[in-house]
Amino acid sequence: MSVTIGTPLQSSAFKVLLLGSGELGKEVVISLQRLGVEVHAADRYDHAPAMHVAHYSYTLNMADAEELKQLIQQIKPNLIVPEIEAIATQVLVEIEQQNIATVIPSAKAVNLTMNREGIRRLAAEELGLPTSAYRFADSIESFRAACDDIGYPNFVKPVMSSSGKGQSRVKNFDEVDAAWEYAQTGGRVNQGKVIVESQIDFDFEITLLTVRAKNAETGEIETQYCDPIGHRQDSGDYVESWQPQAMTAAALEESKRIAHKVTAALGGCGIFGVELFVKGDKVWFSEVSPRPHDTGLVTLASQFQSEFELHARAILGLPVNTSRHSVAASAVIYAGVDDTNLSFSGLNLALSNPNTDLRLFGKPEGFKRRRMGVATARAETTDQARELALETASQVSVQQN
Ligand SMILES: Nc1ncnc2c1ncn2[C@@H]1O[C@H](COP(=O)(O)OP(=O)(O)OP(=O)(O)O)[C@@H](O)[C@H]1O
Ligand SMILES: [Mg+2]
Repeated sequence: MSVTIGTPLQSSAFKVLLLGSGELGKEVVISLQRLGVEVHAADRYDHAPAMHVAHYSYTLNMADAEELKQLIQQIKPNLIVPEIEAIATQVLVEIEQQNIATVIPSAKAVNLTMNREGIRRLAAEELGLPTSAYRFADSIESFRAACDDIGYPNFVKPVMSSSGKGQSRVKNFDEVDAAWEYAQTGGRVNQGKVIVESQIDFDFEITLLTVRAKNAETGEIETQYCDPIGHRQDSGDYVESWQPQAMTAAALEESKRIAHKVTAALGGCGIFGVELFVKGDKVWFSEVSPRPHDTGLVTLASQFQSEFELHARAILGLPVNTSRHSVAASAVIYAGVDDTNLSFSGLNLALSNPNTDLRLFGKPEGFKRRRMGVATARAETTDQARELALETASQVSVQQN
């Protein structure tokens, strides 16, 4: 059955509830608005980026099951689109079971990926995909034993965390206790559990944006891939990305095999950011976001349909086109200060090159390392595009008022 879109703000409206209203959600909202969808945006603070462009917005604690349930009952959305991981996902499982709304891409996907243990066990133990060696620990004693088992250096991450929070690279036994302490402060909920991963000695890492969308004729869900995105991370946060990342044909094929397996197991329609480590022809699965990925901001400049448009179309059951028209790169613009009410200048200079573009997210408050915007650039080669994107980002200056 194909989707029928009504008129926003009238009784026929096709409603989407976005849970999490960050910069990635903002672009998803814009894409949905263009297709005539009525959008409701929620987050834990007022004036979050996606709220600026949604029809309605709500501020609540989405990790609170009661608050979340009430909101869903009040709006009665057709689709619920989680944009962040810190959500009472059990509520989404119930909503899906009771056929109250469709959870994107599926309640199972949202539930498994919000916890590193769920997705890692699925990928490595059920699907047999190659990953780093790993152990889980929930006390200082079991953590010390896990570190010794895995060896050094290793990566320690709270099972409920993202964007590098509470994460550290442990180089030797002397650093173990400090890593445990740090992990305990960085998790989303004070759950205490961590994953210890062996370090993968990769040549580069990629995000393989993978879309599950219905075929226009058959209505069957098909899997399509964007060209691989290379990226550079600093303290668990992405600072620049580029597309395409050059790699061997064998590694690309293996990347697609892994992405296909993991996204098929998670199910539903939408875009997934499959994070992979690559060395020569060898590929390891790292993790997956069941939603647009921050490194995929580059697709705003490189593809006919950005990852946000792809997501919007796929979740509505519409056909997608993952092809790329340009070589491009993206570079992050940080606040550089802890303050509210910031201003941005240097935009004239930044945009003087016709192959550059900017997104300023409109976040009400900045922190030194908070992402406030992104610069994109197109060029002949990824090296040139990266250089231009970094230059463009650096030309934007942030002022306090
Ligand atoms: N086992 C590993 N071996 C080598 N590098 C790793 C390993 N685990 C993590 N890293 C490095 O740390 C980065 C962040 O790790 P990961 O993606 O697991 O954290 P995250 O908090 O989910 O980050 P984000 O939310 O930004 O994706 C990776 O992109 C990679 O650069
Ligand atoms: Mg990651």
